Parts: sequence; C-alpha cells; structure tokens
Amino acid sequence: MKIRTNALAGIALAATAALGLAACGSGSTSQAGSGAASGEITVYNAQHESLTKEWVDAFTAETGIKVTLRQGDDTEMSNQIVQEGQASPADVFLTENSPAMAQVENAGLFADVDKATVDQVPAEFRPSTNKWTGIAARSTVLVYDKKKLSADQLPKSMLDLAKPEWKGKWAASPSGADFQAIVSALLELKGEAATQEWLKGMKENSKAYKGNSTAMKAVNAGEVDSALIYHYYYYGDQAKTGENSNNVTPFYFKNHDPGAFVSISGGGVLKSSKNAAAAQAFLKFITGKKGQEVLQKGTSFEYAVGSGVPSNDKLVPLAELQAPTVDPAKLNSAKVTELMTQAGLL
Ligand SMILES: [Fe+2]
Repeated sequence: MKIRTNALAGIALAATAALGLAACGSGSTSQAGSGAASGEITVYNAQHESLTKEWVDAFTAETGIKVTLRQGDDTEMSNQIVQEGQASPADVFLTENSPAMAQVENAGLFADVDKATVDQVPAEFRPSTNKWTGIAARSTVLVYDKKKLSADQLPKSMLDLAKPEWKGKWAASPSGADFQAIVSALLELKGEAATQEWLKGMKENSKAYKGNSTAMKAVNAGEVDSALIYHYYYYGDQAKTGENSNNVTPFYFKNHDPGAFVSISGGGVLKSSKNAAAAQAFLKFITGKKGQEVLQKGTSFEYAVGSGVPSNDKLVPLAELQAPTVDPAKLNSAKVTELMTQAGLL
C-alpha cells in the first residue's frame, strides 16, 4: 500500500509539471479556458469505491480540486440523478456498467464530454453519442469447478445455459447491475423474444445468489458447478488469498457470443454541474494516462480502456476476448428489469 501511495505521489508531481507545460502550449482545449479548473466537485460513484478513491486521491494531489464521493449502486444512483434532475448536486456520475449511464443520457441530463477526453478513449469503449465515456471495462466469464465439469462439458454459448442439461448447474446474481448489464447486451444482440426465452431457462436452471463474490464463493465451496459473473472477482481474489477462488477456473466464451460481452463502465458530466470545468478535468484525468495506470497497477483488475495504457498483465488481453460489438448507449435497463421481473428472477 505504502509503495503505491508513494508511486502515485511521484506520478502526480510529474503530471503537475506536464500540465503546466500543456497549459502554456497552443493546443489547449475548451476545458481550461483562462485558467486551470479548481474548486470542488461531487461525484456520484457506483464504481467500486476502492478504485474511485484511488482515482480521486491522484486527481486531488495533481489539481488541488476537492472531490466528495457519494456511494451507491448503478441503478440506485441513476434513478436518484433522474429524480433530482437539474437540482442534482452531482457533477460527475461513474458506474460499473453502461445501462445506468444510458438511462441518465436518455433523460437528457449529461453534457457533452470534452473532445480531449473523447479523443483519448477508442470508439469501441464509449457510446456513439459522446454524452459519456468508458472509463474501464469488465468481461463476462463463467467460473467453474474443474472437478465437476470437464472442458468438453463447458457450454459453447451462454445461450446453452438455458438448456435442460444445465439445470441446477449454474449460479448468478440476478439482482445486481453487473448481471443485468449482461442481459441488456443479450437483449440488444438477440432481441426480446430470444431474451425472454433465455430468462425462462435461467429461472429453471440457475441458483440465485446476492453478489458476484457470493456466487463465486459458492462454486469454490462445491455448492454449484459454475457461475456467470465478471472476470475481476476471480483475479481480485487470486491476488489476495485465493481462498474464495482456488477451486475455480475462469472460462471465456469468446466467438462474439453474448457471453463474451465486455461491459463498459461509464463516466459523464451532468449538464447541471456548477463546476463543469473541474468535472470535465476529472473525467479527462481518469481516462488519461495516470488514471488508466491506476487500473493497470492497482487492485481492481478491471480493464484499462484509455490513453493506450495496457491492462493488468495478469488478465487475458481484451483483444483476445472476441467480444460482441454493442453500442453501450443502446443498452436498455428498464426493459431488462421488466423482462427479468416477468421471468420471476427479480
Ligand atoms: Fe462489480
């Protein structure tokens, strides 16, 4: 811990110097105006708190801008922002998954993301609308117990998990935003009828747990053969003691399957922000080199998406995951909730 703090402080110092140079250069963009951003911002944070705290500490060290965090989950916070409307105290919204961002976007509450920020995130990691941007990414994965399932018994597609032979053999956390994002991708890729059908099979076949870690723990303990979760729960546990994952192997569906969905975590600036310059600077920072290095070197094990920073080298590279192409702006959380409720999963 100590080592990383020092390293970040070093990075922050170097960055201050770099910023000074950039501000004097001719290429400065809309955001800085007559001076650097300053003051305070409030971030509604649905990302993992530990990750955002690392970002905030590095950002404040570099800019002096104070950041207040309000913590909640994706849908809880997107609903709150929509309810608060123009009066929202939020300057920035960060999520784990895209559907909650799409909800706030559809309510017309996001400002355009500064071009300098857009430019440092490749198109596949942000919505086509540029009303928000990807800040990190996570892959869908089936973690399984090798003693229970051999390699040739693994499903070819996530859709196979709805077949009768998978009854009682897999787990998920249907109430979580992580899992609902996977369903939103299925809906976008295969349409409503296919999604309804799959959810029906899921209700028959799967065991519900609260939280991805709990589902993985159940596989590890031999309670259930497999679980459909995100990759970082496995790598995070492995990096600690491995006590909840040592009996577990991650399986990637690849082949552009809905089960190979890579979910984009989002960041956006609210139109109603009273300190838009600082809010935009924060978004630029976390998608910039230093912000993305927090993903590369920290303990979140989420994928880096911006500024050409590679992901943590323990991870299967994003380029090898053969994820399906999905425009995150099109993911529809309201419809997913409706379909999952109909199927008796919520
Ligand atoms: Fe998560």
